[in-house]
Amino acid sequence: MINIAILYHSEKGRTKIVAEEIGKGAMVGGAEVHLISVIAEIDWDLLHRCDALVFGSPTYMGSVSAPFKKFMDDSGNVWMKHVWKDKIAAGFTNSHSYSGDKLNVLVQMAIFAAQHGMIWVGSGDMPTGSTPDDLNRLGSFMGVMTQSDTAIAIDPPPLGDRKTAFNYGMRIAEMAKKLLG
Ligand SMILES: Cc1cc2nc3c(=O)[nH]c(=O)nc-3n(C[C@H](O)[C@H](O)[C@H](O)COP(=O)(O)O)c2cc1C
Repeated sequence: MINIAILYHSEKGRTKIVAEEIGKGAMVGGAEVHLISVIAEIDWDLLHRCDALVFGSPTYMGSVSAPFKKFMDDSGNVWMKHVWKDKIAAGFTNSHSYSGDKLNVLVQMAIFAAQHGMIWVGSGDMPTGSTPDDLNRLGSFMGVMTQSDTAIAIDPPPLGDRKTAFNYGMRIAEMAKKLLG
C-alpha cells in the first residue's frame, strides 16, 4: 500500500481543513495517510518510509510560515543523504486574499522538493469557474491554493476549494501508485 504523509502548519485551523480534505482524497485513492502537524515532534523514520510527502502551510507575508520553514530547515540532515530522492512531493497553501502571493509559497515548496530530489505533482483540476463552489477557482496549477476570508463570509475555505483539495489527494495517491507502486 502507498503511504502518504501530509505535513502541515495551521495556526487557526483553515490549512488543517485543507490537509484533511487532501487526506480523505488520498485514502479514496488507496493510500494510507499520516496527517502530521509540523509543530509536533517529527517522526523522521516515518517520513522516510512514506512514498509521498505533501507540504501545507498558510501564506504568511507572501511566504511559508515560520514553523513550516523550521521543518524545511530541520530536514537538512535528510537532504545530506538524499533520503527522499524519487519520492512524490506536492504542496498546498491557504491564505486570506485571492492572490495574497500564494504562488510564492508553492514555488518555495517545489524548490524544497527539488532540493530533496523529489518528483513534484501539480494540481490536476481545470478551473470550472470562479465561484466558491467551483473547482480550482483560483486557477492554480503548481499545487492547490485555497482562500478563506472572514470579512466576506468565505471561512473556512469553501466547498469548491475543499473538493479541489480532495481531488488533489486522489491524484497524489494515483500518481504515487503509477510511478512507485
Ligand atoms: C503573520 C501573518 C501573515 C499573513 N500574510 C498573508 C499574506 O501574505 N497573504 C494573505 O493572503 N494572507 C496572509 N495572512 C492570512 C493567513 O494566510 C490566513 O489567515 C490563513 O487562513 C491562516 O491559516 P490557518 O487558519 O491555517 O492558520 C497572514 C496571516 C498572518 C497571521
